[in-house]
Amino acid sequence: MTMTTLEKPESRRTKLRTSQAQTRVIAVANQKGGVGKTDLAVNLSCQFAAAGKRVLLIDMDPQANATDYLVSPETPIEKSTADLLIDDSISLEDILIKDCRENLDVAPADGDLSACQIRLANDINMQFKLKKKLKEMKESNGYDYVFIDTPPSLGILTVNTLTASTDVLIPVQTQYFAMDGVVQLLETVRKVKEDINPELSVMGAVLTMYDRRTILSREVASRVRHEFNDGTVYSTVIPVNIRLAEAPSYHKSIFEYDSGCNGAKAYGALSEEILSCLED
Ligand SMILES: Nc1ncnc2c1ncn2[C@@H]1O[C@H](COP(=O)(O)OP(=O)(O)OP(=O)(O)O)[C@@H](O)[C@H]1O
Ligand SMILES: [Mg+2]
Repeated sequence: MTMTTLEKPESRRTKLRTSQAQTRVIAVANQKGGVGKTDLAVNLSCQFAAAGKRVLLIDMDPQANATDYLVSPETPIEKSTADLLIDDSISLEDILIKDCRENLDVAPADGDLSACQIRLANDINMQFKLKKKLKEMKESNGYDYVFIDTPPSLGILTVNTLTASTDVLIPVQTQYFAMDGVVQLLETVRKVKEDINPELSVMGAVLTMYDRRTILSREVASRVRHEFNDGTVYSTVIPVNIRLAEAPSYHKSIFEYDSGCNGAKAYGALSEEILSCLED
């Protein structure tokens, strides 16, 4: 678990001074699968919205887990992020599920995003598709925060997301091999920042699926904090919590499903911690 190539992420406060007025576009990314990206993107979106922020959640994963998490199967999805990326005439407004929750709109995904990657591969502007659509969105000034859920890869969908984002939030599962892939992700962030999107910075990492009963969780947490440098791993950790595993099948955020459980309490604390860093 060595991170010799890891660049020290930028201070969150430095970032704040330069971009306070603009909508923060937060990519939730980690190329490792099953680390809690979707859980984080969905529950932070819901909690930010509950705190009175205007939030847009964009699903850029062909698995469409974030969409499935929040949108009931009865809600028809007529257009998705696949249509958005492929068809120049389709705008973000055209695909939105508005008021999915109070203050929260969702740009849904579906399986077509898989095929979309192949079609995009031949397009010279392939990495700019999402950025362009976000820029063109008439309502963009109305959103305080945009969260983007990404797939477990560093392919074109994640690069599109990083190109369109101001910040990257990295969930790190508190398990052995936790840092697998993080070095490559940070290298990709560095390249996107250097070549395409100078605004981009790493806002921090969140330790997920933390099991306080195990020595392994404690050891991994302290090693991850060390590897990331102090101040860039949020102090709130998301515990392993069965209610968090159950909530998606009810299409409810953790706050709707069981507001008193440890998972909901952790997400409440994490939202407060992140919001106070962003808006202090
Ligand atoms: N803190 C937690 N405690 C227990 N289960 C969790 C927790 N966080 C997420 N899960 C469950 O673990 C699984 C993986 O989580 P999630 O889908 O958020 O990961 P992901 O990184 O988005 O996965 P993928 O890479 O496939 O997109 C899901 O079934 C989810 O409900
Ligand atoms: Mg996911």
